[in-house]
Amino acid sequence: MFNRYSLTLFAALALVLGACASATEPKPTSVPTAAPAAPSAPAAPTAAPKPAAISFSKDVLPILQSRCVQCHGGARTSAGIDLRTYASLQAAQVVTPGKASASKLVEVVVNGLMPKQGPKLTPAEIKTISDWVDAGAPDN
Ligand code: HEC
Repeated sequence: MFNRYSLTLFAALALVLGACASATEPKPTSVPTAAPAAPSAPAAPTAAPKPAAISFSKDVLPILQSRCVQCHGGARTSAGIDLRTYASLQAAQVVTPGKASASKLVEVVVNGLMPKQGPKLTPAEIKTISDWVDAGAPDN
């Protein structure tokens, strides 16, 4: 495993590699592929890539339509909650725009209370809904 010498060498290498990368490689796409001794070097701190904007109509609504509206819309509106449209979702007051942690809509799918029947939403589906709320719950 690492002894003190190799750790120091490793740190120095990382520094040198980092310096080179920022000085001579402005484009992240042109990182040299054949850098020796680099595979375990920590990645240079870069800004986290912006998540693609989540669309209510393309991403969130299809989840609600396939898993929720049989009980929350149309003939049945359990708990008075209609999840068929953006407007009806707003009217249900289960979303606090920008704050998924304070939103009932997110809470019930995270804790597995909803959907009341059938399998829980997948982690990806939950993340889609949660990220959309955190992004301000836009009507997009
Ligand atoms: C099989 C019917 C059914 C399905 C499917 C269903 N619900 Fe519900 N939902 C209910 C009922 C009934 C209630 C009333 C509370 C209870 O009985 O647990 C409720 C209550 C709720 C509440 C209010 C909870 C509270 O504590 O105030 C929310 C929010 C909700 N559902 C969201 C959803 C979402 C989001 C989905 C889809 C992912 C969904 N539900 C799917 C039947 C359903």
